[in-house]
Amino acid sequence: MSSPSELIFFVNGKKVVEKNADPEEVLLSFLRRKVGLTGTKYGCGGGGCGACTVMVSTYDRNQRTVVHYTVIACLQPIVTLHGAAVVTVEGIGSTKTKLHPVQERIAKAHGSQCGFCTPGMVMSMYTLLRNKPQPTMEDIREALGGNLCRCTGYRPIIDGFKTFCESESSGCCQNGRAGGECCLENGAKGSKTNNSKESDQISQELFPMDCFLPLDPSQDLIFPPELMIMEKKVSGDALYFQGERVNLVAPFKLSHLLELKAEHPSAPLIVGNTTIGPKMLLKGVYHPLVIYAGRISELKAVTWGETGLTVGAACSLSTLQKEVEKVVVETEEEKTRGYRALLQTLRCLAGKQIRNMATVGGNILSANPKYDLSSVLAALDCTLHVISKDGMRSIPLDEKLFADFGKTVLRPEEVLLSIDIPYTKPWEFVAAYRQAQRREFAFSFLNAGMKVAIKEGTDVVESLSIYYGGVGPTLVKPKLTCQQLVSRSWGEDLLSEGCRLLKEDVDVSPSIHGGRAEFRKTLAISFFFKFYMQVVLEMRERGVSDADFPLEYLSALKPFKNEVPQGQQSFQLVSEAQPSADLVGRPSMHQSAFQQATGEAKYYDDLPLVQGELFIFMVTSTRAHAKIINIDPSEALKMPGMVTFVSAGDVPGANCRLWFNNPEELFAEEEVVCVGQIIGAVVAESREQARRAAKEVHVTYHDLQPVFFTIEDAIRHESYFEPKRKVERGDVDEALKTAEHILEDEIYMGGQEHFYMETQGVIAVPKGEHEEMDLFVATQHAAFTQELVGMALGVDSNKITCHVKRLGGGFGGKVMKIASLSAITAVAAHKTGRAVRCCLERGDDMLITSGRHPFLGKYKVGYNNDGTIVAADITYYSNGGSTLDESAFIMDKAVLHMDNGYKIPNLRGRGVVCKTYLPSYTAFRGFGGPQGLMVMESVLHEVAVRCGLPAEKVRDINMYREEQSYTHHKQPFNPTDMVRCWDECLERANYQDRLRAVQLFNSSNRWKKRGISAVPQKFGVGFSKGFCNQGAALVNIYKDGSVLVTHGGTEMGQGINTKAIQIASRVLKVPVSSIFTKETCTGNVPNAAPSAASFGTDAVGMAVKDACEKLMRRLQPLMEKNPQNTWKQWVNEAFFQKTSLSATGFFMGPPTDVDWEKGEGQAYYYFTFGACCSEVEIDCLTGDHKNIRTDIVMDVGKSINPALDIGQVEGGFVQGVGLYTIEELQFSPDGVLMTRGPSQYKVPALCDVPAELNVHLLANAENPHAIYLSKGIGEPPVFFGSTIFFAIKAAIAAARTERGLGDAFPLSSPATAEKIRMACQDEFTKMASPPTDGAMAPWCLDV
Ligand SMILES: Cc1cc2nc3c(=O)[nH]c(=O)nc-3n(C[C@H](O)[C@H](O)[C@H](O)COP(=O)(O)OP(=O)(O)OC[C@H]3O[C@@H](n4cnc5c(N)ncnc54)[C@H](O)[C@@H]3O)c2cc1C
Ligand code: FES
Ligand code: FES
Repeated sequence: MSSPSELIFFVNGKKVVEKNADPEEVLLSFLRRKVGLTGTKYGCGGGGCGACTVMVSTYDRNQRTVVHYTVIACLQPIVTLHGAAVVTVEGIGSTKTKLHPVQERIAKAHGSQCGFCTPGMVMSMYTLLRNKPQPTMEDIREALGGNLCRCTGYRPIIDGFKTFCESESSGCCQNGRAGGECCLENGAKGSKTNNSKESDQISQELFPMDCFLPLDPSQDLIFPPELMIMEKKVSGDALYFQGERVNLVAPFKLSHLLELKAEHPSAPLIVGNTTIGPKMLLKGVYHPLVIYAGRISELKAVTWGETGLTVGAACSLSTLQKEVEKVVVETEEEKTRGYRALLQTLRCLAGKQIRNMATVGGNILSANPKYDLSSVLAALDCTLHVISKDGMRSIPLDEKLFADFGKTVLRPEEVLLSIDIPYTKPWEFVAAYRQAQRREFAFSFLNAGMKVAIKEGTDVVESLSIYYGGVGPTLVKPKLTCQQLVSRSWGEDLLSEGCRLLKEDVDVSPSIHGGRAEFRKTLAISFFFKFYMQVVLEMRERGVSDADFPLEYLSALKPFKNEVPQGQQSFQLVSEAQPSADLVGRPSMHQSAFQQATGEAKYYDDLPLVQGELFIFMVTSTRAHAKIINIDPSEALKMPGMVTFVSAGDVPGANCRLWFNNPEELFAEEEVVCVGQIIGAVVAESREQARRAAKEVHVTYHDLQPVFFTIEDAIRHESYFEPKRKVERGDVDEALKTAEHILEDEIYMGGQEHFYMETQGVIAVPKGEHEEMDLFVATQHAAFTQELVGMALGVDSNKITCHVKRLGGGFGGKVMKIASLSAITAVAAHKTGRAVRCCLERGDDMLITSGRHPFLGKYKVGYNNDGTIVAADITYYSNGGSTLDESAFIMDKAVLHMDNGYKIPNLRGRGVVCKTYLPSYTAFRGFGGPQGLMVMESVLHEVAVRCGLPAEKVRDINMYREEQSYTHHKQPFNPTDMVRCWDECLERANYQDRLRAVQLFNSSNRWKKRGISAVPQKFGVGFSKGFCNQGAALVNIYKDGSVLVTHGGTEMGQGINTKAIQIASRVLKVPVSSIFTKETCTGNVPNAAPSAASFGTDAVGMAVKDACEKLMRRLQPLMEKNPQNTWKQWVNEAFFQKTSLSATGFFMGPPTDVDWEKGEGQAYYYFTFGACCSEVEIDCLTGDHKNIRTDIVMDVGKSINPALDIGQVEGGFVQGVGLYTIEELQFSPDGVLMTRGPSQYKVPALCDVPAELNVHLLANAENPHAIYLSKGIGEPPVFFGSTIFFAIKAAIAAARTERGLGDAFPLSSPATAEKIRMACQDEFTKMASPPTDGAMAPWCLDV
């Protein structure tokens, strides 16, 4: 190989020359660690989250133009960027120079909460504007489809960005008819409404639309002319890059590529690197030589001929999409039917960034059946042109191309040159289908391409092609079906024969990778049914078919249209008497929103390397229950860069995390109790070296019994944690005897992964004296981390300082495990005497830290014909995993919330935490509330079904109404505001009319059904352990008049700092611009409670107020003496008078507690109320569902910041949508978490947000118990996601009723596409009979 080439590219207008570029280095790590541009974030490392989106510009020699497109920096090898210009979030604007309008608008529209996704969002939008300065809403939807946000619920991001749309300035939402009306007709715009009694006190303006920077193209970096010249004058025959382990060759000529392939047949050829990249980066697959084919112009050629399109194998999916989009507009429909089908697939395949990188050739030749292109292209009779040194050959793209999973029949030295995608002929009809866990940006469970050629002028089949991806390891053509239907009339007989044949022909093994065999088979037949109907329709239009089907079937043919979420948000304006400088109660922007939008905001892993810093990587158990026989790090210690291995023996203090007297080992010493338990950790010079070395630590185990993972198995083994809980109101047993009906049932609810966009991590820096250590850590509970690190090191807490600048999302997941990780990292820092950084990769984060508890609720309920519930007896079982963690408190909350808003006179709840051999479940937003409430709402829903009453009516009659009501644990409360929320929600949602409309829709649509559901909510705020209800703050005033507010809370997107500043500003009467919060630091505010339980602002706000009031009391005499002076003068005067300008503030919350012996007590400080109503539509044939509309009315008292509170409501709700519908964790029968990244685990994307999402803060609501009459809001909205679940259940019931099945049926949460489809039983589900071999191990467990 020749000497290495110089890699030249530009980053933000600056030339980068790398003499020894490493082919293994991807752009993300290069930017973050070599260039120091940390605005681009790591969220997953596998292309699945969009946090690392940047813009790449290249000079396209064929088109002679510069093209701009987004890419995923975590998969883009830097060596493939030779001649390219990269623009990151830092390159488009900054707070120091000038913000880019994209940055400004996302910030001002409150589209940045924790901010971790924000740079990626900004770059997706920026790139769109570079290509299209006045985009449509559809463009925005497409551009953001590959960017996940776990905080905001997307709506505010869209609101900010839609201001770039041309007609936005004219005021139209451009979303067509959201919920039937244009938003303008709806009165959605405008700042004030004049409706009803609220008159003009209600505002709908969360941010002013008229003060944005204009889009100014002169602000954009130009494409470096040097690169253009370089591209035009390419010399040499290839680029060569030599890394430590991997070499890469990028030939310029096809002939050279073919020579290389002949010489190195086993070297993979990469272009987009979206298949090979994740394998090398995440799965450790090693290729010493890689050939990059992205510079061969023949592979990128696109030509249109007589017969159709010939697309180069290295063309991106976006290029293909663009070409096809153009032609379907310009060419007659008949010829482009195939292209239309292809487009349907392309539009929901991955995200925009992936489509920009991924190539057509790579998609086909990856030979992965869950990739979507092959099935549709095979149906279209495409031809592949394959070339090698020996010449060229053409082969059809059909099932014979694929030899096995990941293997094709191409010879290793062969290269795919191009693909012919022909026009369809006049009598050919084509369709493509796919169904995934999420409608967009998700791999399909099953994809299909179907084409039938009909004899001209008849209804007789001339040929039929059906291809399925996802029913086996390779592309499958059901041959018998395709052959035997030839020469038959396309009519009902053909349909039933086709289905019968498919039943035999499509053999989905019960052990198929990914499971869901029955569902996949059902889909295969259902897709064919859809295809049948579509062809009938087209043939009828031509007058050649006698076949018919009822009109009610028609809607089955329309795929759901993804819409851009729109809606109204309203809140009560502050009184006109409030000074304009007082921002309490006004929608104020997040304190760091601009920094987050420009990439300037620093998260723990953005901090620069500390001199001599090392990296730590965890070694985790691969067994669920075993004795550790031996841990052998010797091989690892020989690896390059390896410094040391740490395990239990290295812990100088206590090898345990103590939480309420429950110890949990930091490092497993003798026995492991779950897969993913930390056994040791390797410490190396770099993270790559640490990752590789960790794989070489060999642990020998002796498996132990018992081992089980599910709640049911734990019940069988009577494996429980203590304490068990019981609360009872009335006399349940007696009351059950009096009820007219008894129902005994159960509901299972799966767990949930936090999926905060920033993974967990910490930097431990030994200070070199007195055993001091600083930790820069992403924790919600700095004091606990400090305490635990001290215990592990055997050092007093006063020498350990935790700094928390901000978290990229927490959601309860960064309270407990991060403390253990910090202690482990601190042990490594202590042992080596050097700074150590720990940054969990996404897969490890999901494996090690676990999430929300799965719950099983078993109930017996007594009810009367009118829906009155007279008694309910519920036992909650949670899966606690292998250690107690916070499980007991979480169960407490579930049991204490079981009554929700219902006055069930006789109510008994028992709570049992099951001990299993899974990673320990932990706190998650809602803390057991979403599970506790869910079981009760299921009871209400099922009673309504049994009584034949609308569920809303049953909820209504059972609701608490008396002003002085008591919960089942005897806590007094006033439910008036809950009832107000409920009534207002139903009214605003126009519930009764829409219920009728839903019924009408259902009666005229067989394969699509709608459902609508509403729930009220009463949610306890604060910790039931009273001592946690405390807050502390430190406020310093400096001589220049500026104010520094420090408090014990942590900023994780909820805006606690912003609210603290608003409060300080009100008390001190200084503008918010003079007040700052820097970080949470255990050295400034000690012993703080965690930021959790929706109590952060309550605790911190009161403490800040207390501190500021103290300061004001000190300044008061000076102010009175010199009222004409300025703030700065008073402060100066105070200084010279030796008055302390620093004050601590403290808030002692109420003494909440529950006497569990009696099962009663004041468990919560107060209750936050709300109500939510959602409507969905399901596709009974595929299990897909669309969230049509949601209305939420939320009582947050007198909101301190309506923008932040509405943000919490929307974000929490969307997280709940994930919890109850698409987020599904899968464990293998051996207890291994298989869903370990965004490719397998789907959190809501833009497509999951209801097309219309309205949020109203209840007006005239005041909460005397909390700061400035406000209420905590972080957790309650999650539960509202259940309205989607119940609406889905109602829709399924409508389908079942029509088919003569019972409308009472089991449905566990989440209501995934699989469950929806299989619950809509019909002739097709029957054909996909379950596996006969009962001994077959299931693919995954409901744990
Ligand atoms: C987050 C994510 C989401 C995705 N979602 C989807 C989805 O929803 N649907 C879907 O269909 N796909 C999806 N994909 C897969 C994606 O479409 C493919 O990875 C991509 O098309 C592969 O193209 P590439 O150029 O990146 O391949 P590379 O990784 O560069 O190469 C892939 C393979 O193809 C071979 N190869 C490529 N070109 C040639 C050629 N010209 N001649 C010979 N061999 C060649 C290589 O040797 C290699 O084995 C997703 C991928 C990611 C990372
Ligand atoms: S970090 Fe690159 S897509 Fe997630
Ligand atoms: S703001 Fe989007 S992930 Fe936090």
